[in-house]
Amino acid sequence: MTCLTGRWATLRPMPLTPRQRVLAAFDGTPVDRPPMWLMRQAGRYLPGYRAVRSQHSFWSVCKTPELSTQVALEPLALFPLDAAIVFSDILVIPDALGLGVTFGPGEGPRVARPLRTGSDLAAWNIDGLAGRLDFVAAAVKHLRAAIGAERGLFGFAGAPWTLFSYIVEGQGSDDFRTARTLMHADPELTTAALGTLADGVAGLLEAQCEAGADVVQLFDTWGGLLTTDEYARFALPALRRITDRLRARNRRTLIFARGAHHLLPVLKEAGADGLSLDWRTPWRDARKLMPSMTLQGNLDPILLLSTPETVRRATRALLDDMRETSAYGRSIVNLGHGIVPETPVDTVRALCDTVVEAAQR
Ligand code: CP3
Repeated sequence: MTCLTGRWATLRPMPLTPRQRVLAAFDGTPVDRPPMWLMRQAGRYLPGYRAVRSQHSFWSVCKTPELSTQVALEPLALFPLDAAIVFSDILVIPDALGLGVTFGPGEGPRVARPLRTGSDLAAWNIDGLAGRLDFVAAAVKHLRAAIGAERGLFGFAGAPWTLFSYIVEGQGSDDFRTARTLMHADPELTTAALGTLADGVAGLLEAQCEAGADVVQLFDTWGGLLTTDEYARFALPALRRITDRLRARNRRTLIFARGAHHLLPVLKEAGADGLSLDWRTPWRDARKLMPSMTLQGNLDPILLLSTPETVRRATRALLDDMRETSAYGRSIVNLGHGIVPETPVDTVRALCDTVVEAAQR
């Protein structure tokens, strides 16, 4: 049969534009296959990105719309992704607060003026914060003009708890012990700092939506360090302060939290439209707990260091989970954390091709 009409047409939707697929994952309309994009899809694993970075500092790539768009477009040119993500970083907010964020060669981020006391918090440069972050919305606007109306576009920001973690620790860490010590020792200061960060994040995300982002994602990379009770007490109210503001404007929101299997019941109450799962959370468990939320994920980024055939098999297994639990509805294919710099382009292509083939299965 060559012509699919009537009942079949509703069972197998017509091919959609990439952006329609992304939006369908939020409004729940049927799709031919789930949309896909990859966390950290622009970055050091790509030759074009490395070439740009050999000429320009990380901050100047973020702050120059032409450069930011150039690196954001590279993965779209190489792979059949449904969405772009603006090239920026979660640490734009601490930097705009005057805390001095730098990325040294080969090391993680450093914060020159970490938060340790109430007087550190009082010194945060809140006046004019939104203006100092204008470059992020400018990058979104420039990128939207470049991709046109048929591709999806994601904006993002750090979740308050993860921003607090870097700001207090002053650098990356496996356990963020300085930040967690401050949380235990001075819950009032912690709550005040998280609230201020939440206001900055909400403004930054709203500006990205205004500039053309279809969806905004909060990255709570270090959320999994907290117990369920701590997350509910500290991280959740700050998230709600953000999602309440965005929801009032009908914006679409996702929250990614790493190591957060134990936090799912709390995250469900964060007021977002969807959750981005890390690679350790079984898709079917999350779908059972959240039948009507958008879910995103959740292939292990380290899988991409194996072979294309292995990646194809794992991607098909994830697609089967998505199809069998919700007919691909309200599901977005992604990784369970960002792509690592050692990733070969071949395995990323194997992942993407397998997802595209799902529309023909
Ligand atoms: O997805 C994308 O393509 C958009 C770009 C993006 C970057 N950072 C660019 C970047 C996104 C979404 C982020 C989010 C981010 N940044 C997170 C949350 C997600 C995660 O990976 O956990 C965090 C924790 C950060 C903070 C950060 N920025 C770290 C720890 C580092 C250094 C270590 C590393 O992974 O490179 C950065 C710098 C950074 N941000 C780079 C890129 C491409 C590398 C800079 C370079 O050396 O060129």
